[in-house]
Amino acid sequence: MMLPKLIKSNLQTVMIGQQIKYYSQLNSTNQKASELIAYNEATHGMLVVTDNQRLGKGRRNNNWFMGTEKGMAVSLILDNPLSKENTLFLPLITGVATVKSLCSHGVVPKLKWPNDLMVSSKKIGGILCESRISSNEVKYIVIGLGINVNETIEDLPEYLHQTATSLFIETGEIQQRELIISKFLNTFEMELRKFKKDKMELIKNWEFYCGHMNEEISFTYNGEKLFGLFLGLNSSGEAVTKMNGENKTFNSITLD
Ligand code: BTN
Repeated sequence: MMLPKLIKSNLQTVMIGQQIKYYSQLNSTNQKASELIAYNEATHGMLVVTDNQRLGKGRRNNNWFMGTEKGMAVSLILDNPLSKENTLFLPLITGVATVKSLCSHGVVPKLKWPNDLMVSSKKIGGILCESRISSNEVKYIVIGLGINVNETIEDLPEYLHQTATSLFIETGEIQQRELIISKFLNTFEMELRKFKKDKMELIKNWEFYCGHMNEEISFTYNGEKLFGLFLGLNSSGEAVTKMNGENKTFNSITLD
C-alpha cells in the first residue's frame, strides 16, 4: 500500500504535492482530479494518487494499464501556472522532469514525441495532460503520469508484452513508489521554475532526451497517421517535422 506520508516527507517543494489525495482504488486519477476541480475542492499543486487505477485513460481514448499496488498513477492539478501559449510546454516539462527523476532509479528513458517514455524501445510511462478552459483562459491543467514500476512481465496484460516494460523488468529491483513520486514532484517544480526563466533550456533538454532526433517517425495527430523526419522543437515547443520536403509543426497538447 502506498504511504502518502512517505511521499510528503521526501518533498522539497513549495507548492507541488503539498496536498495529497490518496485513494486505495479509483477509475482514473485524471478523472478524479477533474471532479475535485469541478467541486471546487482542488488547490494548485494538489496530487491525486491511487494504488489501483481500474480505468486509466491514455491518449487518443486508449486505456492505460496499471498493476495494482505495483504501478504508479498520479495526477497533478495546476491552477493556471502559465500563459495559454506556454501551456503547450507543460507536457514537455513533465517529460523532462520524469526522465530526470527516473535517472536515480536505474533507467534513463528516452522521450518519444509527444509524450511517451521509452526504455529498450518499449513504453515504461506515459503522460496525459488535460485542460479546463473558462472564458478563453486555461483555468486548470491536470497532468496525468503513469509509470510501470514493479510490474513483472506476467503482471502486464499479454497485449502489452511486446511493447511495454517496467522499472522492475529493466533493473530487477523492486522500487519504493513513494520515492519515485516525490522525486518527480521535486524535479517538476524545479523544471517549472527554470522554464519560467529560460524556455530554451527546456527545449534543449527535451531534445537531448528525445530518442528520435533527425529520424523518420510516425505518429497520430488528430486521428491521422503521419510520417516525417523529426527535426526537433521550435521556440513555441511544437514538433518540427519534414514531410514531403516541407517543414510542418505540431503541438503536443490539444486544448479543449
Ligand atoms: C498515454 O501514454 O497514452 C498516456 C497515459 C497516461 C496514464 C496516466 S496514469 C495517471 C493518469 N490517470 C489517467 O487516467 N491517465 C493518466
